[in-house]
Amino acid sequence: MSPTATDYFAANLANWNERAHIHVRDETGFYGIDTLLSGGNLLTPIEASEVGNVAGLRLAHLQCHIGTDSLSLARLGADVTGLDFSPAAIAHARQLAQRCGLPARFVEGTVYAAPQLLGTGFDRVFTTWGTVCWLDDLGAWARAAAAILAPGGKLYFADTHPQVFQFEADATGRLQLQWDFRTDPATPLAWDESTSYDGSRARLHSTRTYEWVHSVAGILNALIGAGFTIDFVREHEALPWRPYPDMVQGADRLFRLPAGHVRLPLALSIGATRIG
Ligand SMILES: C[S@@+](CC[C@H](N)C(=O)[O-])C[C@H]1O[C@@H](n2cnc3c(N)ncnc32)[C@H](O)[C@@H]1O
Repeated sequence: MSPTATDYFAANLANWNERAHIHVRDETGFYGIDTLLSGGNLLTPIEASEVGNVAGLRLAHLQCHIGTDSLSLARLGADVTGLDFSPAAIAHARQLAQRCGLPARFVEGTVYAAPQLLGTGFDRVFTTWGTVCWLDDLGAWARAAAAILAPGGKLYFADTHPQVFQFEADATGRLQLQWDFRTDPATPLAWDESTSYDGSRARLHSTRTYEWVHSVAGILNALIGAGFTIDFVREHEALPWRPYPDMVQGADRLFRLPAGHVRLPLALSIGATRIG
């Protein structure tokens, strides 16, 4: 029998549980745990400049991982509820909240079940950096986000631009067009990586993951189909991780293509409002 989304999600979950333990140790500083614990804010300049004032708002953070951004939003005064399907990530998020002395609620479960797990009436949905690539069904994702928002509530999305996933660097660092611009939901891309993207040396045992590339139109149409109106769509020449070896990190912690390289959109951000 061919594997189903349930099988793909089970493999991803095993991998994310392991990564959560590695990321919270923060051997390389990628996750900024020390900054968070000493009172800092870990939002990148992209979402910090686009998410707007969240003080006093009921905010749902979907795919919150170990809660570093959730707690940064709580520090800005939002009443935050984080959701993630990894029990290890949720346990670490709760511990970090305690260590930071910040009030935030963390709930374990899949994004698709957000309405049943989190309830409704949120003012904001926040979801960034490593989100829809883990999901096979963007219609279900967008409907879940719409259902938990109050009418007029806003979604903020920022993530790696789908075009980035189409290229691989060859041995000389030159980018080669390698992958389709969207993935069939039934046949995700399969990866086997023995370490995580945070650069630490810790070995993963559950190495296999499954991911989906969703096109810009696929993401926007899922939101429109779920009853959102699109407020803005932006493409950025920077992002908070290093998809290709030759990228240069700036003082703002974001990575960019080197000077003189053909320009590519590296990040995509979207603001949307639930109608009615
Ligand atoms: C790259 S991390 C997101 C990081 C996040 N931007 C943050 O604030 O640190 C991706 C997260 O998605 C979660 N995830 C993957 N598939 C999921 C699903 N179907 N439902 C809920 N969470 C999921 C993983 O457990 C992981 O914590």
